[in-house]
Amino acid sequence: MKAQFGVIGLATMGQNLALNMAQHGFSVAGYNRSAERTQALMARVKDEPILPTFALPEFVSALARPRAILLMVQAGRPVDEVPSELFPLLEPGDLLIDGGNSHFADTERRIREAESRGLLYLGVGISGGEAGALEGPALMAGGHAADYARIEPIFEAIAARGLDGPCTGYFGPGGSGHYVKMVHNGIEYAIMQTIAECYDLLKRGLGFTPSEIAAVFAEWNQKELESYLLEITVDILRTKDSETGGFLVEAIKDAAEQKGTGKWSTQAALDLGAPTPTLAEAVFARIVSALKEERVRAEKVLPGPAPNPPLPVQETLENLRKAYALAVITAYAQGFRQLRDASTEHGYGFSLAEVARVWTAGCIIRARMLQDMREAFRREPDLPLLVLAEPFREFWVKGQESLRDVVCLAHRTGIPVPAFSSALNFLDAYRTGRLPANLTQAQRDYFGAHTYERLDRPGKFHTRWEEAPRC
Ligand SMILES: NC(=O)c1ccc[n+]([C@@H]2O[C@H](COP(=O)([O-])OP(=O)(O)OC[C@H]3O[C@@H](n4cnc5c(N)ncnc54)[C@H](OP(=O)(O)O)[C@@H]3O)[C@@H](O)[C@H]2O)c1
Repeated sequence: MKAQFGVIGLATMGQNLALNMAQHGFSVAGYNRSAERTQALMARVKDEPILPTFALPEFVSALARPRAILLMVQAGRPVDEVPSELFPLLEPGDLLIDGGNSHFADTERRIREAESRGLLYLGVGISGGEAGALEGPALMAGGHAADYARIEPIFEAIAARGLDGPCTGYFGPGGSGHYVKMVHNGIEYAIMQTIAECYDLLKRGLGFTPSEIAAVFAEWNQKELESYLLEITVDILRTKDSETGGFLVEAIKDAAEQKGTGKWSTQAALDLGAPTPTLAEAVFARIVSALKEERVRAEKVLPGPAPNPPLPVQETLENLRKAYALAVITAYAQGFRQLRDASTEHGYGFSLAEVARVWTAGCIIRARMLQDMREAFRREPDLPLLVLAEPFREFWVKGQESLRDVVCLAHRTGIPVPAFSSALNFLDAYRTGRLPANLTQAQRDYFGAHTYERLDRPGKFHTRWEEAPRC
């Protein structure tokens, strides 16, 4: 009997996805460059139908034709290197699925390369980490619809169960699936940064211990703010360091790393002209955090504000909860806006309601609020910004003063809050009918003759500013 599905790359994700498929009754052939990982997978297999292979030709001949192969190798060059070895072994009609965090433009190039050889190729963003891969991830697919239809039953079987069924979706041609996953990660960065800012304000502003902060987050996580990222943060803040007996989180070096998807999301937003400042600030916050030695030196020479009087605890907690909700909503709003613009620009043609549906379970940014987001985009598919729709507008109405208070408090006490500040700045700019960009346009015209438009009549205008009469 030949295996129904192949997985190449048996590290964290590939190994768990292979087990997930096999546990759902699909026979899987697995291959990894180094044999150790294949053996590690087999050590976890009980009676699941998984066939280990130790060379690419052996792997390819173990698969039923036309073959379907999931590539779960490290993103970047390996996603070109492995197919270049694999392609000569495949036959027309075989399907290669890149399930890693590939850049959407690379996926579009790889689809063309595969097609030139008569092969089929899908780019699929997979979210959920190790546990998700095993128990049910969220899957975001792009490529040809017919190729997705071929593997949809297996994706439906292994995906997380959301409100309306399995969290797998087809988002259009080319690199659409990887684009959606990239923006998912951009939003993930912004939410993580917002939670980190809450932690800092509670720790340095109110003097809370990690377990007291965990209790605050646990309470928020009971109701409308419930999310996977808050849930794991509660666990993290309560975790003991086995070496010191103190809180593990306090023993971890404060320098955040990144693998690139958050940065790509911001780069792509800039290319599109999509306004995602809070997502961008989260990337910059990680970059600043990585300057650990410089920051330690600067701390000694750049003094902060004078000590403030103690903060009112209940009032600060209430403001922080409302501000957190608004900053998180803003992160989703900016991400969905980028996806809306990208779908039009790249011709993906996906629906934002479907994106929200696929994100309701399995993925890292799953949250109770996604159900309302889905409804908002169902009611108004072309909604320009989530905060214009209920119940999100109401969060702004009821929470804007709290967000302002939190940003003021942070600035007064010298605690950096790039996500909170940028969310507030963005929403204030978005709701302002007349911004000072008229002055910017005048300056551009003054030094570069770039012309400007007028409010009172159509057309492009240029003024010889040096010679013009003054008021
Ligand atoms: N880890 C997560 O939580 C997560 C979540 C979502 C998406 N992803 C994405 O999913 C993909 C896989 O992630 P991962 O964490 O499971 O693994 P990874 O650490 O990103 O990559 C390790 C795997 O890639 C293989 N590999 C690397 N270079 C290779 C090459 N030149 N030729 C053949 N194989 C090569 C390794 O084989 P060897 O064992 O021989 O070194 C190993 O199987 C990545 O794109 C990642 O960004 C990861």
